Amino acid sequence: MPKLLHLACSPRPDSESAAGARVFLDRFRQARPEWDIDVMDLWRDSLPEFTGALLEAKYARINGRAFTDAERDRFAVAERIAVRFALAERVVISTPMWNFGIPYKLKQWFDIVIQPGLTFRFDPSQGYLPLLKDRPTLVILASGGDFATGMNRGRTDMATPYLREALRFIGVKDVRFVPIGPTTGPVEPVRLARENAHRRLAEMAGRF
Ligand SMILES: Cc1cc2nc3c(=O)[nH]c(=O)nc-3n(C[C@H](O)[C@H](O)[C@H](O)COP(=O)(O)O)c2cc1C
Repeated sequence: MPKLLHLACSPRPDSESAAGARVFLDRFRQARPEWDIDVMDLWRDSLPEFTGALLEAKYARINGRAFTDAERDRFAVAERIAVRFALAERVVISTPMWNFGIPYKLKQWFDIVIQPGLTFRFDPSQGYLPLLKDRPTLVILASGGDFATGMNRGRTDMATPYLREALRFIGVKDVRFVPIGPTTGPVEPVRLARENAHRRLAEMAGRF
């Protein structure tokens, strides 16, 4: 059964990014009822802290050193999380913008899956090479302000370039972004932004 992985990255019950993901996934299910939708809620599913043997395992790989038993055990946890992503033919990431970037849980997820020999490798003559296959990926990014131009009142959107680069580094280049913003402030612009984003998401779902 083909699989879509949804990384749900907002802890809010009234999350705008989650509402956008619901619109998209409802349509996607109608268009492709045979697909398995695997939801990983980064605030409910446990993610290992990137410390101790898990951190040392990364350095073991970088330095070409064999794992200790503890490192092998901890690395296996990272491997399971990365494989869940690697096996998905489609990916949806619904996330808030937090302080111009992404919430720390999503950054933690990237720190866990971006590992040498797992999702990328280094070749002295060719440099860094991705190990994952490309696949259509949708990022639904909710922000209090409107970052359509990449800027809002002197603030720069660093979530979009970070996500594009982190995904590209491991092999995922086919990434579309649907921003939802403003999500705070006067009612009418918030309603319009939500409506526009939901319309776009519903349209995209049938051909994703
Ligand atoms: C910790 C935190 C940091 C935030 N930083 C920004 C920011 O840098 N820029 C912005 O426009 N909105 C910011 N916001 C507002 C959120 O992006 C906005 O409420 C958005 O709708 C959150 O997504 P969600 O509704 O899916 O949870 C921040 C909110 C929180 C809680």
